[in-house]
Amino acid sequence: MNSIILDKSEPFKSYRLNYLFFHNKWADKKLNTTIKKLKYSENFIYFVETMNSLKEEVLFKSRAHGIRHNEKTAIIVFCMAEYDQLNFNDFQLLLIAALYHDVGRLSDGLDYGHGERSAKMIDYIFSKFDEIDQLLLKIVMHAHSEDDECFENIIMNYNCPKCEFSRGLLLMKYFKDADALDRFRLRDDGCDPNYLRCDISRSLIPFSKSLNQLYKNI
Ligand SMILES: [Fe+2]
Ligand SMILES: [Fe+2]
Repeated sequence: MNSIILDKSEPFKSYRLNYLFFHNKWADKKLNTTIKKLKYSENFIYFVETMNSLKEEVLFKSRAHGIRHNEKTAIIVFCMAEYDQLNFNDFQLLLIAALYHDVGRLSDGLDYGHGERSAKMIDYIFSKFDEIDQLLLKIVMHAHSEDDECFENIIMNYNCPKCEFSRGLLLMKYFKDADALDRFRLRDDGCDPNYLRCDISRSLIPFSKSLNQLYKNI
């Protein structure tokens, strides 16, 4: 592990996030530009507060699918929200999904159905959203471990109001992409751009690679 000196005034509980956001200047241009954009976002304080409220004790304990993966997925959804100018509700929902989508895991493998198990656990972990957003959060969490072809069935099985279908489908796409972008933690070619669903996701590939490279050393 690299030695890291932190300023006590830095706001995250996570030393990794402090290192990422408060290191003076990254040599990596992609990392520098994107981190700067996030730091100066009007949602940055909300991001800090949400990351600091993370209930670490409920997370799946693992190097591959534990807190490090949750932090990076959260950073990626923050990027998506900034670059695609998502509304605050959608950003909030994606951020909570990033933090808790793998709580239902039983193993590090494919672990069929872990998204559905995570969705069932969310009510006692997090219940600050209104009824519709809580429902969409469950749908996004459930769908993240299923094939895209199942999206419509999943959304229908949760009795989601029809007027929320398009929003739900879009949130599922963003979230599956964010989760996929962090596959660079597993292999250098861990995320195939051809399988990404949103334009913003393809543009975040270099950032995600740099983020994972950095996380390997902290
Ligand atoms: Fe997962
Ligand atoms: Fe995941």
